[in-house]
Amino acid sequence: MADRFQAPKGTFDVLPPGAAARERIERTARQLFEHAGYFRIETPAFEDTELFARGVGESTDIVQKEMFTFEDMGGRSLTLRPEGTAPICRGYVEHGMHKRSQPVKLWYWGPFFRHEAPQAGRYRQFTQVGAEVLGTDEPSADAELIVLLSQLLEGCREVSVRISSLGNPRTRSAYRDELRDWLGAREGELSEPVRARLDLNPLRAFDSDDPGTQAVMAEAPKLIDRLDDEDAEHFAAVRSLLDDAGLAYEVDPGLVRGLDYYTRTVFEFESGVLGAQAALGGGGRYDGLVELLGGSPTPGVGWAAGIERILLAQPEPVEGPPRGVFVAVAKPERREEAFGVANDLRAAGVAAELEHTTRSLKGQLKQADRLGVRHTVILGEAFELKDMETG
Ligand code: HAM
Repeated sequence: MADRFQAPKGTFDVLPPGAAARERIERTARQLFEHAGYFRIETPAFEDTELFARGVGESTDIVQKEMFTFEDMGGRSLTLRPEGTAPICRGYVEHGMHKRSQPVKLWYWGPFFRHEAPQAGRYRQFTQVGAEVLGTDEPSADAELIVLLSQLLEGCREVSVRISSLGNPRTRSAYRDELRDWLGAREGELSEPVRARLDLNPLRAFDSDDPGTQAVMAEAPKLIDRLDDEDAEHFAAVRSLLDDAGLAYEVDPGLVRGLDYYTRTVFEFESGVLGAQAALGGGGRYDGLVELLGGSPTPGVGWAAGIERILLAQPEPVEGPPRGVFVAVAKPERREEAFGVANDLRAAGVAAELEHTTRSLKGQLKQADRLGVRHTVILGEAFELKDMETG
């Protein structure tokens, strides 16, 4: 026998009935977005490598070690998209969307790729649903997006929300210097990976799961205490809108997102049932990204959530009520007629299944049971209709 194949490491097949649960989330997302005036956007599954290097940031884990990068036959370096925000900003600039009425509100759904060590809730190909609002820096856009994500995650177990503000590049850079100096004085207490990246990105130390590093970081100066007046006001306005909406959240000054483009608001939704990969979704404001990608200065804010993690965080689905009809044949000569009956039922808007094997009538009734239909039509001497619940 020939060698058999397996799906590549970190990928998975969606088998029936798994697809139904994913479709339910997609339906909910579409409804939420359409009611809030968002339009669907699709971008390619791969882009110029440089788009992510520049957009997501050279020093991030994503760019340093998680990208599926390859050369095409023309020698161009391409990368399977690890995230959707940089591609959408690329599209905003490329298609002159600044000329449309602002803000431009977009949502998306599709596969993303990161070369991470696979474990529960972490895959190399995963599905994100996301939303981006471009062309306004009003706090109401931030709050609208956060509320939408909380609505999408209704039904997930043990959801909590953390938010923070990263201010602007100027205050952040001054803070980074301050933090680097402060951590430098306590270098001996930090984990090796954190020490190795002190120069490049000292903020990532907040992300460390090393207990020694965590103890140091609890005492470290916080960026949120170094915001300038405008950024502090912006954050207060976002919080006030969330309070009005009745959304409970925690302000976490140590909240670090794994992408470099963020300014001002950042947020993350977690589920307590997910273990190590707890983040259901997250995002924030990225007021400098469009300009960084060659467009005119354009503020933006958005989020993305992982479908596979949402599914893990949802309770087991309950089976729906029985529906539809199974067309069974008790006499082989009526098979052709059964085919017509199934077609007629479908044309009349009734879900219908047809016996496609040569099972006995008993076997067919068992199959109808397994399929969970409400009625079975039996073509024998006569034309019988059996209610599967009452018999
Ligand atoms: P992110 O936090 O890198 O943000 O990813 C968003 C979500 O995607 C995560 O919270 C998680 O649920 C899911 N996810 C990420 N990596 C994996 C993986 N390897 N396996 C399974 N699920 C995963 C972004 O991607 C930003 N583009 C979000 C954003 C939009 N910010 C502003 N606009």
